[in-house]
Amino acid sequence: MCSSQVWTEVRRAQEQRPCKWNSMAILPFILLLVNFYPANARKPNFVLFMADDLGIGEVGCYGNSTIRTPNIDRLAQEGVKLTQHITAASLCTPSRAAFLTGRYPVRTGMSGYHGYKVLLWTAVSGGLPKNETTFAKILQQQGYSTGIIGKWHLGVNCESRTDFCHHPLNHGFDYFFGLPMSLVNDCDVSRPSELYVFQEQMWFYAQLFITTVFTLVIITWLNLINIPWKIIFLGALFGTLFFLYFYIALGFQLYWNCILMRNFDVVEQPADLELKARQIVEEAKGFIIRNKERPFLLFVTFLHIHSPHSTSKAFRGRSKHDLYGDNIEEMDWMIGEILDVMKQEDLANDTLTYFASDHGAHLEGMKGSLHLRGSNGIYRGGKGMGGMEGGIRVPGIIRWPGVVPANTSVDSLTSLMDIFPTVIKLGGGTLPQDRIIDGKDLMPLVQGIVPKSEHDFMFHYCDEHLHAVRWQESSSNTTWKVHYMSPRFSPEGAGACHGFKVCACSGKQVLYHVPSLLFNLSNDPSEKYPLPSDCGLYRKVTEIIQQAVARHNSTLHPVPQQLFRLNNLWNPMLQPCCGTFPFCWCDKEKNT
Ligand SMILES: *[C@@H]1O[C@H](CO)[C@@H](O)[C@H](O)[C@H]1NC(C)=O
Ligand SMILES: *[C@@H]1O[C@H](CO)[C@@H](O)[C@H](O)[C@H]1NC(C)=O
Ligand SMILES: *[C@@H]1O[C@H](CO)[C@@H](O)[C@H](O)[C@H]1NC(C)=O
Repeated sequence: MCSSQVWTEVRRAQEQRPCKWNSMAILPFILLLVNFYPANARKPNFVLFMADDLGIGEVGCYGNSTIRTPNIDRLAQEGVKLTQHITAASLCTPSRAAFLTGRYPVRTGMSGYHGYKVLLWTAVSGGLPKNETTFAKILQQQGYSTGIIGKWHLGVNCESRTDFCHHPLNHGFDYFFGLPMSLVNDCDVSRPSELYVFQEQMWFYAQLFITTVFTLVIITWLNLINIPWKIIFLGALFGTLFFLYFYIALGFQLYWNCILMRNFDVVEQPADLELKARQIVEEAKGFIIRNKERPFLLFVTFLHIHSPHSTSKAFRGRSKHDLYGDNIEEMDWMIGEILDVMKQEDLANDTLTYFASDHGAHLEGMKGSLHLRGSNGIYRGGKGMGGMEGGIRVPGIIRWPGVVPANTSVDSLTSLMDIFPTVIKLGGGTLPQDRIIDGKDLMPLVQGIVPKSEHDFMFHYCDEHLHAVRWQESSSNTTWKVHYMSPRFSPEGAGACHGFKVCACSGKQVLYHVPSLLFNLSNDPSEKYPLPSDCGLYRKVTEIIQQAVARHNSTLHPVPQQLFRLNNLWNPMLQPCCGTFPFCWCDKEKNT
């Protein structure tokens, strides 16, 4: 079994190799086929919903009995529920980059790197590289109308305030309405600042600095020691500029990061979160109605249920789980509103509808902030813990009445990256041939044509570090998972890293498992009982996985790190601004 496994891998690797001559040769036939494609077999639409930070334990159809999610449950009833749906990363920026490109973030330079985990500002030069291709871009070339409504968090500019090199409209979307960054607590002025801790630290150092300068001035003036005035002056100047930079960056976070854009225009600065739920619903409905006569792709990427859990008045106090539950129930309502429009317009049967979360729920409450913690059901770990099941196993639902069976569930291994080849194939496009695509076409699996997905192995990164790997055996469907590293919880046994915003991926805050831990996920989904490392099965399974890691490593190449250092530092020259910088405030959506 072991060797046949290897051969399947080798064959697959060969199939994936770019083969220019072959694809050129079949091009005329493809064109011929397209010509004879019956006129009434129109291409499907795509409506892709993505929640932010929603855990697998927080949805009715995945076993939560106290949060009401009737609309998500309805989707599952009318479609296929994926029970082993895995994100490529456990944080927003890398996970979303992988979703849109079908590639592991380590291939695109969008993985966390040396502790830089996500894009930290709207005004940074990092972002989804220009030469990466999203599925939206390929569908756009196939005549689709493509829209994205909600959160982006994949960068905006490279070199100037208006080059928009990473903007959705330069990555295959015709229409964008939403936040170019992510929500931070500072976006809701009624909440304590997320950056308060940093500001306090900075203020401490600033006082230290001022005292030092004064002392130097006085002792030089008294001729006690002899420091040239020029040096003192330059030191004071640079120090002041340094502190001023941080004061302006951190102190005005609300204006720098909480921005609403409509296409290339900044329309609310700062964004009014109270309005967002309704605006996103109205924008999605409008997009669907405007485009109902042609194939369209709509990506609704919710601001829910990321902190600060801003929920409109109508939904506050309704759930059994405080603001956190209210926020989930509001998102479910939004989904219901959008599904209703599709039904009214008679589009449901022509549309593949998808629902997922970008990664697992956040388990750490933040210092100086509301202590709202999510739930990942029976799975261990959460957001930011790349190798732990709770961080990467998320709800995943596919509905397409008449094409995909209703009310079924699929346990085989699937990835959010699978949406990339799936929609491209259905939309009549071809996959890029000059790079490795890690996603696999989902249709044969969800239609019940094949019993198992094409994924044998999946690699679970925490930033740039490989923390764990899973293997689903083709013969038995057993899923194994090996952990090489995992977070050191604080306090020990807490299941989370309290006192930190998220767990670290390397260094002293991480446990290095030697020998590595092996779990049989199929009968131990909560990863409680590692196999003894001296048994034959342990050796056999870890060896097969080790070989897969070696093959995977041989396909990786160094790429520019988009989230690293200068690429992820607030740069006023790149700040989207609706006025004349630094006077950036406006509210142009008042009457909509
Ligand atoms: C449902 O979700 C809430 C919010 O995360 C959580 O507190 C609760 O424990 C969950 N219930 C179950 C049964 O998982
Ligand atoms: C949509 O497809 C389902 C399943 O095939 C079918 O029962 C239903 O009648 C169809 N609806 C419309 C409006 O065609
Ligand atoms: C994009 O450009 C970078 C930097 O030149 C390169 O390392 C990377 O391989 C390119 N990616 C693709 C998909 O061509």
